[in-house]
Order: sequence, then C-alpha cells, then structure tokens
Amino acid sequence: MPAIALDSSSWYQDDIGPRMTATAEFVFLSWSGLAGEELVSHLYRVRDQAWSVSKYPCVGLWMFLLDGIAAFPQFPTVLEIAKRPQAKTIDLGCGLGQDLRLLAAHGVPTENMWALDMNDGLWKVGYDLFRDQTQMQAKFIHADFLEVDPALDQGLSPLRSKMDLILASQFTHLFDWAGQLSASKNMVYLSKPGTMIVGFQQGRKTARDIPRPWRTVFYHNKDSFLQLWDVVQQQTGTRWKLDITEVQLKDTGMLDVDVAWMPDDHMGLNFIITREA
Ligand SMILES: C[S@@+](CC[C@H](N)C(=O)[O-])C[C@H]1O[C@@H](n2cnc3c(N)ncnc32)[C@H](O)[C@@H]1O
Repeated sequence: MPAIALDSSSWYQDDIGPRMTATAEFVFLSWSGLAGEELVSHLYRVRDQAWSVSKYPCVGLWMFLLDGIAAFPQFPTVLEIAKRPQAKTIDLGCGLGQDLRLLAAHGVPTENMWALDMNDGLWKVGYDLFRDQTQMQAKFIHADFLEVDPALDQGLSPLRSKMDLILASQFTHLFDWAGQLSASKNMVYLSKPGTMIVGFQQGRKTARDIPRPWRTVFYHNKDSFLQLWDVVQQQTGTRWKLDITEVQLKDTGMLDVDVAWMPDDHMGLNFIITREA
C-alpha cells in the first residue's frame, strides 16, 4: 500500500499544557540544571527548533516529556543493567535522545552510550535541549537502520554482540512488517544473551497497515508483535523472553487532544524483550 499525504499539523500542539511530567522535571533539573520558568521558556524555544527539523508527533505533541520507559515497572531493572560496569547502551531512532538523558540523570555514565538515527538534526537539537554538549559523551551513529548491513557499517560492526541495553521507543512502528523484521534482526546482531530491548510505541487493537507520509507502516497489537518476534527468533536462531503490554495512550500521559487524530482503537505497546540464548 502506498504512503499518503497526511496533514502533520494535527501532530503539533502549541501549548505545553499539563504535559510536563515529574520525570522530565527530574531529568532537566539533575542533568541540565534547568527548572521552573526558565525550563518552560527554554522548552518552547527548543521544541519549535526541533519541529522545524523533524515533524514527528514525538516532537509536536511534546512526547519527549512523557514518562515513557521511566514509568515501566521494570525500569529499576533497566537501570540496574545500564549501571553495570562497562555496560553498553544504544538508543535506536534516538531523535532528541531523551532516553539516554533519562539514564544519565539516574547516574549511568554516558561514555558507553551510542545514539543512532538516520537524521542527525534532532540529535544536534538535543544538545541544546539538554544543555549538555560537553557533558554528553554518547557517540552518534548516522545510519538508516532499515537499509544498513550492520556487518558492513563502520559504526555498527564494532558493536556486534556488545549491547547490554537497546532502547527503541517510537521507532519500529515507523516501518512496515518487512522493515520491522529487518530492524529487529539488526537488533539481534547487536545483542548477546542477557541483552534487554526496551521501548514503547503506538499500536492498534486490530493490527494493520497504516498510511503515513513517509511510507505505509504496520501497527501491532500484542499478538501480532509476538508473531513478528516468533519469526525473528526462527530466522536468527536466538531465543528471547517477550514481555509485551497493551496500554491506553491516555495512561501514558497523552491528552485527549493529542490522540484526537487517531482511530478509536488506538493504544500503546510497551515492550521488554530479553535475550535468553
Ligand atoms: C518518532 S521519532 C522517536 C524519537 C525518540 N526515540 C523518542 O522516543 O522520542 C523517530 C526517530 O527515528 C528516526 N528514524 C526514522 N527512520 C529511521 C531509520 N530507518 N533509521 C534510523 N533512524 C530512523 C527519525 O529520524 C526520528 O528521529
């Protein structure tokens, strides 16, 4: 199915409203030294800078302020993994890189972090957003994760079987089924037994193709997500424990106005996928 033109203005909300979360306040205060009115005016300015770079809902709807993975019951385990000596973390489709800053604000060293995106624009705005150009040591990998052969990529090949934590929020739902299979197999390339893949994305109660401005994408429910990972495991000869939760988007902090453009069966999927063998 071809992609269609879609009016991205419904993905932009002018007013920050009640979208500031305790998680975001904590990260901006502890990592960036920003709080109160100074933080809010800073957010308006940098959010619009980010929107001019990339017109995704995660930017226009202030979703980079959501609790996200910090609200997962498994977050303490995620932190425990990230804090192990020499543990390596990569954020795929990092955008502004707020998930790496979340870990950093909790004391995870940034030297063993990588951020990957096909567009470095949001990552660069992220230094401004978090005021951490000198402090943030994560290495940026400029790559199209759909097209890349990780074994041939200078940035990814040294990371084969090295990652302890793979962050992938609001990322693979940008691809169709075949693209998600390929991206998931690339994640397996980066993994070893014990690796945890963590993230959240949009879903639909009835799993299906959805037209988007960039391509037709596939939105999962829990069953279809599990089916995809059955295939990933078969094709890679690896075994993973899948902990997938269907959630209401309003329970993740999104407002009614933020989801008004979605069909009625919208929902979110939270995933924790742990490699067993
Ligand atoms: C919706 S944003 C999500 C950003 C961030 N992970 C978050 O949760 O806010 C998706 C990001 O994935 C990047 N992206 C899209 N397709 C990609 C691809 N094929 N390879 C690498 N990055 C991609 C986009 O440039 C964008 O920064």
